[in-house]
Amino acid sequence: MTSALPPLLYPSADPAPALDGPPAGAGATNPKQKRSGYVRDPHDFYVEPAWCAELLFDEITFHDAVYDPCCGIFTIPKVAISYGLRASGRDIVARSPHQLDCTDFLECQEVVRFQPPNIVCNPPYKLAEAFARKAIRVAYQKVAILVRLDFLASQKRHALFVEHPPAFVLVLSRRPSMPPGELLLRGEVRATSGQHDFMWVVWECGVNDAITNTIVRWLK
Ligand SMILES: C[S@@+](CC[C@H](N)C(=O)[O-])C[C@H]1O[C@@H](n2cnc3c(N)ncnc32)[C@H](O)[C@@H]1O
Repeated sequence: MTSALPPLLYPSADPAPALDGPPAGAGATNPKQKRSGYVRDPHDFYVEPAWCAELLFDEITFHDAVYDPCCGIFTIPKVAISYGLRASGRDIVARSPHQLDCTDFLECQEVVRFQPPNIVCNPPYKLAEAFARKAIRVAYQKVAILVRLDFLASQKRHALFVEHPPAFVLVLSRRPSMPPGELLLRGEVRATSGQHDFMWVVWECGVNDAITNTIVRWLK
């Protein structure tokens, strides 16, 4: 099967901004402020460093195009392209000049009609299971999602992992800094260490029934 997704061209002269933390006292009086000092973004727009996707592409071989349905500022497609893959992305909000359009992945029918071979994304945390389930349904090679380590241990998600055993769980031994994208784009953040442990969960589409042992690896 071939992908109907257009090849994506990412201009190399578009450097990713440095990943930093919030300025001291930012949002200190806002009732929605989290313990981290950040105000929660309504669409969970938090930007991971490029090395997260690099670790994935170093470890797992993707044979065809990569699609990121919540691409934000395009970190994952950009890294995929640097690994010689075709890549494209969308987001519910216009965040990157390179995204195809603004689309709600959970509502989108086009990805059902034109199945992407691979879906790789850092999903909005509150919708991560819904993203995983839809991605597994529509992709026909691999799905990889970047989620917090505690995503694995949950009564709510038990059914997901039983119905769809992942082929790989790739634990990031380093904590990524994942600052709010809005602050990052405005340059209002400074360097910080990450507050949560993350992992890639990888599914091999169409062979879930055959997976009885998920392989766990630790990526450095
Ligand atoms: C954790 S961020 C991903 C950051 C991204 N990897 C980057 O490089 O900027 C999650 C993204 O999901 C997007 N999003 C939230 N809900 C969505 C939905 N229903 N459909 C598509 N994108 C959505 C947000 O706008 C946000 O950009």
